[in-house]
Amino acid sequence: MLSTIILVVAVFLILRFLYNRRFNYWKRQGIPERPSYFEAYNLNKHSVMTWDSKNYEALKDHKFGGMWEMLYPVLYLRDLDLIKQIFIKDFHHFVNRRTFPTNNEKDHTKLMLSFRETDDWKELRNILTPGFSTVKMRRLFTLFDSCAKRYMDYLHSKCDSPIEFRNAMGKYTMACIAESVFGIDCHAFGEHQTEFFKMGKAYMDFSPWRVFKLMFVSNYPKVADFFGLNVFHQDADTYLTKVVEDVLRSRKGVKGNHNDFLEIMRENSEEQEHGQKVLSEHEIVAQCMNFFAAGSDSIETVLIWATYELAKNPDMQQRLYKEVNEGMTKNGGELTFDTMTDMEYLDMFVSECLRKYPPTMRAERRCLKDYPVPGTKYVVPKGLFVHIPIYPIHHDPMYWPEPEKFDPERFTKENKSARNQYSYLPFGYGPRTCIAGRYSIVETKICLAHLVQNFVISTCEKTEPKPIYFHLSLKPVNGTWLSLKPRKR
Ligand code: HEM
Repeated sequence: MLSTIILVVAVFLILRFLYNRRFNYWKRQGIPERPSYFEAYNLNKHSVMTWDSKNYEALKDHKFGGMWEMLYPVLYLRDLDLIKQIFIKDFHHFVNRRTFPTNNEKDHTKLMLSFRETDDWKELRNILTPGFSTVKMRRLFTLFDSCAKRYMDYLHSKCDSPIEFRNAMGKYTMACIAESVFGIDCHAFGEHQTEFFKMGKAYMDFSPWRVFKLMFVSNYPKVADFFGLNVFHQDADTYLTKVVEDVLRSRKGVKGNHNDFLEIMRENSEEQEHGQKVLSEHEIVAQCMNFFAAGSDSIETVLIWATYELAKNPDMQQRLYKEVNEGMTKNGGELTFDTMTDMEYLDMFVSECLRKYPPTMRAERRCLKDYPVPGTKYVVPKGLFVHIPIYPIHHDPMYWPEPEKFDPERFTKENKSARNQYSYLPFGYGPRTCIAGRYSIVETKICLAHLVQNFVISTCEKTEPKPIYFHLSLKPVNGTWLSLKPRKR
């Protein structure tokens, strides 16, 4: 009997010790915290947006604080100067992000730019960056313009009744990514869903379970291995891999005239002369998957909300139409790269969409070597996760008066220069900023320009006044229903 009591007490004390050691982490460091141990396990109730916004509010009076992801402590940054420091000046302490270090041979994430580490990342980034130069953007412009024109034809054929734009925008962004990255026409605007479209959607399904898996695999890779958990949809991954391999095979040894990323990477894999690192086929496939995952959903989100705001704000829509129409009329009814770049209101409008609805709601870094936080006694230990809360900063009234109001005037030259530039972070900042910021802006603007040039967009009975967001992205759960009326030519 006595020995049982001793055993129970001993187990209790050990558990208590372990609990205190883990959960008093921030207290021991003297850092304010929001104890959010279980929110990552409860993502069907909380979106990343609500989770991050609660942390931001709770740590209101602090430059930074502690929070938790799946029982692991995470440093949560609020102060813009510190964010700047970590993104740029002290970047060498924060080069890496989260990784998914499983032993799964087929897993592409290890090879993706987004999850590569340190020198390996730098080398790959140098290889891929020229693919996003202005010259390449001009070439991609033609490709996106052609997708947008086919998209307008599709919308003309459907506009007798209200259109659901989460679905419709998905067709445009899928067409753009299929052609610009994979080098294929995925027939997105046909009556029947093609295999590419179906598999692409499956690959991008960020349900609460998928988000949970993502965090779980990165925090507990060994357990994930044991249970055979993967980050992405396995069938979709296999299908998309085969698409890339087939295109690469069909182009082998052929000098083509392709404007897509696959071609840029293929050219690199055949240029071995200058001792430069060459991409293997496996690495090329991984980058295609990375661009697909990072690029299609995010642009779709911006475009859904941009269309929604155009419908809600007819005066803004009219101003945008006027600007686009004047620009296109000067060019015989065509949109050109230069006229589009000169459209100031279009730029302001898109910037405000990215401010109010940032598709990537937080940036992340993992501390590479101990980092003494300037002006404090706190040292960020090597290995700790750091979160930069993009959504809450974009909605902080300190930087953005009436943050819930949609107002492109925030992005006039004068207003921009009067504001701390680090209060606007849709693409992150510094050497590890989004590699495709300009690509995204070009694809978004082309679509909006054609949309206002072709249609008057308005709300309808089915338009939800307060849409609910998905868990990982800001997409509306129930879609966005709007009416389109063709403009008279
Ligand atoms: C509106 C659209 C997009 C938004 C808002 C967006 C936002 C972001 C953000 C916030 C980051 C993290 C930056 C940081 O950690 O500092 C990022 C990284 C990245 N994005 Fe985007 N992105 C968009 C579109 C795209 C597209 C179209 C592609 C590919 C074609 C892409 C590829 C990437 C890649 C590869 C990275 C990782 C870069 C690296 O680690 O070096 N993104 N993006």
